[in-house]
Amino acid sequence: MLSVRIVGPGRAGRSLAGALVDAGCDVRPLLTRHDDLSSAAEGVDLLVLATPDAQVASAAAAVVPVAATVVLHLSGALGLDVLDPHPRRAALHPLAPLPSPEVGRVRLRSGITFAVAGDPMAATVAELLEGRVMAVDDARRGAYHAAACMAANHVVALMGQVERVAAAAGLELDAFVSLARAALVDVAELGPAAALTGPAARGDEATIAQHRAVLDPEELAGYDAGVELARRLARSAPRRARRPVASHGEPPTVAEPVVLRQARTFAAALDGERARGRRVGLVPTMGALHAGHAALVERAAAECDTVAVTIFVNPLQFDDPADLAAYRRDLPGDLALAAAAGARFVFAPGVEEIYPGFPRLPATTVHVSGVSDRFEGAARPGHFDAVATVVAKLFALAGRCRAYFGEKDFQQLAVVRTLVADLDLPVEVVGCPTVRQPDGLALSSRNSRLGPDGRRAALALRRALDAGLADLGSGRRRPEQVRAAMWQELCADVAVRPDYAEVVDARTLEVPAVLGGALRLLVAAEVEGVRLIDNDGIVLEPSGERWCPRRDPRGDHQRALVLAHGDKER
Ligand code: PAJ
Repeated sequence: MLSVRIVGPGRAGRSLAGALVDAGCDVRPLLTRHDDLSSAAEGVDLLVLATPDAQVASAAAAVVPVAATVVLHLSGALGLDVLDPHPRRAALHPLAPLPSPEVGRVRLRSGITFAVAGDPMAATVAELLEGRVMAVDDARRGAYHAAACMAANHVVALMGQVERVAAAAGLELDAFVSLARAALVDVAELGPAAALTGPAARGDEATIAQHRAVLDPEELAGYDAGVELARRLARSAPRRARRPVASHGEPPTVAEPVVLRQARTFAAALDGERARGRRVGLVPTMGALHAGHAALVERAAAECDTVAVTIFVNPLQFDDPADLAAYRRDLPGDLALAAAAGARFVFAPGVEEIYPGFPRLPATTVHVSGVSDRFEGAARPGHFDAVATVVAKLFALAGRCRAYFGEKDFQQLAVVRTLVADLDLPVEVVGCPTVRQPDGLALSSRNSRLGPDGRRAALALRRALDAGLADLGSGRRRPEQVRAAMWQELCADVAVRPDYAEVVDARTLEVPAVLGGALRLLVAAEVEGVRLIDNDGIVLEPSGERWCPRRDPRGDHQRALVLAHGDKER
């Protein structure tokens, strides 16, 4: 266990003391620079000088050097020379504001960046605090600290000016803070040059002159400095068009989605969208996108202002490592499809981003009991826990949204609906009809692993569903009859290894004693070693009438089936 003594009971010292205690370090009582510091380096691995910059050198000089003890300061501006004559010297500067010991204690362990120099102990401490390490040697210290102050302090001071100018017109700061937040999200994702908008970037001198005419003269120096910075930025790099617009005669171009790799930037991007008043649609996927996924994105784009697609091959939900390894990965193809369907953001994190420490499992997982337990849950133990866990994490990052899931994975949809209801998540779950090939095979990323014979055999699933629907259509009301009809179809082809065929209540996924109301027929089978699932729905009215509530959006298969039984669609 790392033993630490800290000199300086101010905000930085107390924040660090709390964070190190939380990280499991042995932190000795805090000292002030007025204490006798001569023996402060004795008996500890690390002595931290958390005094104001001007007092670091004198505090260091007051401590008798101990060969094994690392003496470290927290200043962003000072070099290591101020720690003379200590043999092991280091600097650790957290790139985060520490407004109070309570906030600082948490913030220091929230994955921030630490600028480190000197003894490797500085990097060790940063890692203990779960931070990122940025090595900054003494030669670059001045530039580093100037950049840090501009990013933290000048931005805040600028918002002070925004507040004054807005207040002079009777306007509240809040709306401008949202604007600034959104602009910073763009900076994080696109870089400053591409994120820059506004009159100075456009060279619109007339608008700038109008602004200058209405501003309090005391604000002009700050405003002019901002304009000059914007002009300089606009000159420095060609600006990347974010949403290219087709000119006359050319085919329409599709805007490239913004690809986000980090959980925090994904969350911030969607926060930014909501701050601009936009409704967010979320489409969680594992990539290898096809027209079934595209239908979800298109529906989301039709109903929401901003659509985010997530692409994450969740290793936890694969019971078979070979299945995980065989899962098709094609980010460029996925981006093109997501863009064409109307996605604005694609969140494609690495496994470490979602499960830090992977293959160590997260301490917290989600189990949705009942609806998870049968069918796919029984065949693939732990599968729905893994789905519920990753979906809960994606929902937590995405925030308030409408989330689109396919009925193709009907049980998964039921698990997600239960998860959202039970945990009061601010998500509206939208189920979308299954997209099929013209011959009725449900689109699935797994279909590509079937050879021509397997592809033909896979149609047994659709035939089984049709047999079950026909049975219900002819008035059968006992689950075992319908099950037998479906099972017979699945067994008709030797290339098909059936797993289950069942008719269930569409809401609870329980098998009712007597069939009625909204029902779902579920089938699963293995073909050429590939597990395939499919399902279809029917509603039985108490009168004995029946109707299929939805029509397949990419074909008339389901409709044709209903009409073949002499029904009229409602
Ligand atoms: P994935 O298999 O990539 O599917 C992503 C979404 O697309 C799911 O909601 C799924 O039901 C839907 N989908 C797949 N094929 C479809 C089809 N033919 N028609 C309509 N929708 C279809 O399902 C997952 O990923 C994962 O389990 C996930 C929810 C992302 C969690 O990891």
